[in-house]
Amino acid sequence: MKILLGVTGGIAAYKSLELTRLCIKAGHEVQVVMTAGAKEFIQPLSFQALSGHPVRDSLFDANQEAGMGHIELARWADQIVIAPASAETLAKLRLGRADDLLTTVCLATDRPIMLAPAMNRLMWSNQATQENVELLKQRGFTLLQPDSGEQACGEVGEGRMPEPQSIFEALQELQKRHFENQQAWSKLKELWTGKSLLVTAGPTYEDIDPVRFIGNRSSGKMGFSIADVAAKAGAKVTLIAGPVSLATPSGVERIDVRSAQQMFEVVQTHYAQADCFVGAAAVADFRPAQSQQQKIKKRAGLEQMTLELVKNPDIIAWVAQQDNKPFVVGFAAETENVVDYARSKLKSKHLDMICANQVGENQGFERDDNSLTVITANHQTTFPNSSKFQQAMALLQEAGQKF
Ligand code: C5P
Repeated sequence: MKILLGVTGGIAAYKSLELTRLCIKAGHEVQVVMTAGAKEFIQPLSFQALSGHPVRDSLFDANQEAGMGHIELARWADQIVIAPASAETLAKLRLGRADDLLTTVCLATDRPIMLAPAMNRLMWSNQATQENVELLKQRGFTLLQPDSGEQACGEVGEGRMPEPQSIFEALQELQKRHFENQQAWSKLKELWTGKSLLVTAGPTYEDIDPVRFIGNRSSGKMGFSIADVAAKAGAKVTLIAGPVSLATPSGVERIDVRSAQQMFEVVQTHYAQADCFVGAAAVADFRPAQSQQQKIKKRAGLEQMTLELVKNPDIIAWVAQQDNKPFVVGFAAETENVVDYARSKLKSKHLDMICANQVGENQGFERDDNSLTVITANHQTTFPNSSKFQQAMALLQEAGQKF
C-alpha cells in the first residue's frame, strides 16, 4: 500500500525513521511530509534515504503536478499516518486549517488517517487536547493511545509516542478494516441502489394535556442510522420521525410526527411505495383516552388520580397484513428473554425479520452503540457490539439479501 507519513515537531520524530523502515521492509511505498517543526528535530535526508523519495514540505511546489502537491499527494496515498502528531497538529486538524502541506493534504483526502500523538503529559491531558481528540475520533480519525512512562522533558506520565512496531501493526489493521468497509459498502450499494425504504424512528409522545405527555427513552439514533446508511447506499429513503433532536441524514426525506396515531397515518400513505419497511420507532402501545384541552389542575385534597388509556394501532402489524406489503422488519427492545420475545413477535405480527436488542441499564436506548440479533423464520445472527451506524450497515445487508 501507499503510505503517506506525516512527521510533526516533537522529539519522537526520530522514532518515525524506524516506522518508515518497517513499512518499506513490509513492501509498502512511503512518502514523507514534514512540518517546519519536524525539521527542527530531524534531517529530511534521513527519511529520503529510507523511503527512496524526497521529503515533501512545501505547500507551493512548482515541481509538482500543476503546483498542487497537496492534491496529488492526497490522491496518491492509500492511507495517511501522522507520527508523531503534536498537540498543535491535533488542534489544526480539528479546526480544519490548511496552512501547511500536511494539514492541507489531510483536508483534501478521503483516505483513512491515523494519528500517533506525542507530547508532554500535561499537554496530553489538557482539556483542550482531549476535546480535540474526541472530536477527531468522531470524525473518523483513528487515534492511537499514547504510551505512559518517562518523557523527554524529564516528567513521567502519559504522552509518549507508541513504539514504531505497534504503530506499524495498527496501520496494517486499519488497512484491513478499511478494505472490509469498502467491500461492505459496495455490497450495500449493489443491494440497495434504486430501492425504496420507509423507516420509523424515535419515540412517540401521547399527550395527556397541553403540558404533559407519555413518552419513552428512545433517542431515534438506530432508525436515523438505518436511514443514513440506506441513503448512502443509494436507496430512496423516507424517515418518519417521532420527537427527537437529531439532524436529518443527507439525502433522506423526513416527516416529523408526534403521536402514534400521526405516525400510523403517515405510514398508511407511504407504505405502498416502499420495497422495505423498518419499524425502528418505539411506538407507545397506549394513549390517554382523552387529551385534555387545558392543563389538568391538582385539586386540594386529591391524593390519587386515574388516567384512562386506550390502545394505539400496531403500525407494523398493520403493514404486515396488507396485500401489497413491503418486506417488513421490526424491532424488539427487551430487558429480558430478548430472543424468545423477539421470536414470538416475529410470528404474532407476521414480520419478515425482527431485530432483537437488550435495553435497560446502560444498554440500547440513548446510546451510540448496540448489539442486534437479527431473526427470520429460519435464520438467526448476532452482530458484535459496535456503533449504531455499523449495526445499521450489517442489518441492511441482511435485509437487502432477503428481499
Ligand atoms: O410490541 P412491541 O412494541 O414490542 O413491538 C415492537 C415493534 O413493533 C417495533 O418494530 C415497533 O416499531 C413496532 N410497533 C408498531 N406500532 C405499535 C407498537 C409497536 O409499529 N403500536
